[in-house]
Amino acid sequence: MELIVVNHEEEMSKWAAYYILRQLKQKPDSILGLATGGTPLGMYRLLRQQDKQLYAKATTFNLDEYAGLPAGHPQSYRAYMKDELFSAIELPEAQSHLPDGMADPEIECAAYEEQIEASGGIDLQILGIGSNGHIGFNEPGTPFDSRTHKVELKEETRKANQRFFDKLDDVPTHALTMGIGTILKSRKIVLLASGQEKQEALRLLLSGIQTVDVPATSLLDHPDVTVIADCAALPETVLEQAAISFSMEHLNLMMT
Ligand code: F6R
Repeated sequence: MELIVVNHEEEMSKWAAYYILRQLKQKPDSILGLATGGTPLGMYRLLRQQDKQLYAKATTFNLDEYAGLPAGHPQSYRAYMKDELFSAIELPEAQSHLPDGMADPEIECAAYEEQIEASGGIDLQILGIGSNGHIGFNEPGTPFDSRTHKVELKEETRKANQRFFDKLDDVPTHALTMGIGTILKSRKIVLLASGQEKQEALRLLLSGIQTVDVPATSLLDHPDVTVIADCAALPETVLEQAAISFSMEHLNLMMT
């Protein structure tokens, strides 16, 4: 696992955008795994400013969608993706995929899994991390070999996501998510973390001890994971020993 330490969220977003752009330049028909939530917002903002044609041959699969929210609901992840990225790029609609939160969950999850496999599998998966260590909506306790499935969201996850809704009662109780096993099949994984509320989850991940109680520790087995974290998200002990940290000048050069 590679760790890139950056000063703040903006640098994290720049790195994340760089990984997506590099992937698309190297392989225009890439299969991208995308995330929603607060963490990737800066990455999407940067991608909106870049070449919109880059996506013409790409395919995207999002990690998750709320169960019970129609695609047109303003808080659905389909709407989020449209607002933050899809409306600003040339990605044919048939090439973007999110689970359908209104469909029969069992049939939808099996179909989603099949679609990912039929595409040839995800080349680059972007992940955020929950403060309880979840990835996708795989809450603590989820088996590492799980496939796309319906989950009940933990109260802490619903509270964390309340900021996108008017009130807690409006936050759906369930979601459809790629499983941990699905995520682990991605050829490359980039996990983003920013802010102090992610510190404990990152401490547990970087301690190297694998446990189903911290879903992100499943990534320790994966051969190609890059964690991009800002200083606020990293515990003091990790910051002291951080193996890799790049200068922004270096990144600016790579972005051009
Ligand atoms: C989003 C997702 C979640 C979030 C995580 C962190 O598609 O799957 O795992 O990445 O809940 O959320 P934020 O970024 O809002 O802190």
